[in-house]
Amino acid sequence: WGPTGHRAVGEIAQSYLSPEVKLIIEDILDGQSLALVSTFADEIKSDERYKAFSPWHYVNFPFDSTYEKSPKSEKGDIIVAIKKCVEVLKSKEASKDDKAFYLKMLVHFMGDLHQPLHVGLAEDRGGNTFQVQWFDEGVNLHWVWDEKIIEKFGMTYTELAQNTNKLSQEELDAIQKGNVEDWMYESRTLCLDVYDYTKVGDKLSYEYMYRYAHVVRNQLQKGGIRLGNLLNTIFS
Ligand code: ADE
Ligand code: ZN
Ligand code: ZN
Repeated sequence: WGPTGHRAVGEIAQSYLSPEVKLIIEDILDGQSLALVSTFADEIKSDERYKAFSPWHYVNFPFDSTYEKSPKSEKGDIIVAIKKCVEVLKSKEASKDDKAFYLKMLVHFMGDLHQPLHVGLAEDRGGNTFQVQWFDEGVNLHWVWDEKIIEKFGMTYTELAQNTNKLSQEELDAIQKGNVEDWMYESRTLCLDVYDYTKVGDKLSYEYMYRYAHVVRNQLQKGGIRLGNLLNTIFS
């Protein structure tokens, strides 16, 4: 996602924190909100010193295979990344600086995990080399999913963060169930639908936006709720 998507995930997660976990996190982040720190992992991408973290934003494997059966990248992937973040945040030895760093990374990666093309294909780099037309503009499919649908729909992060309180307890329970791998496969299923529905060179416009705007919103809400819940578990 771009900044709007990531901030929505952070904002939603923040509203699901228990009062005591909220205080612990405020201390680690020196009062910064989860929405504010959600884009940190993208901001450091151009810095040589943080190069090793670039492959942590996604995972790719062939459509006819599974994560478990595919050769793992030795540089890590989004699943390895999230587990590392959780490990550091749970650790008694980690410094406050380390906890702040991995907490900011976790907020971001939980967002990326819910972007269907971040659980994608290596050959087109998660849609980064998949060219399409978005209204009158030539863009790649990854960009459409990170930013363009949200932008065209005119959704701000605070708007996107509203309405999760309309979910019933059953719906919330269903969302909170499962683990990182389950959530990854949920994104993967959506990714398969995107590749069924989108061909290279397609001219995408309103029809595409309306087909997928609710998927984007749902994924951001699930990401936020699950992140909030995960943080409550880590720090309780
Ligand atoms: N770079 C390579 N594959 C990618 C993916 N699936 N998402 C984002 N960036 C990538
Ligand atoms: Zn992306
Ligand atoms: Zn990212």
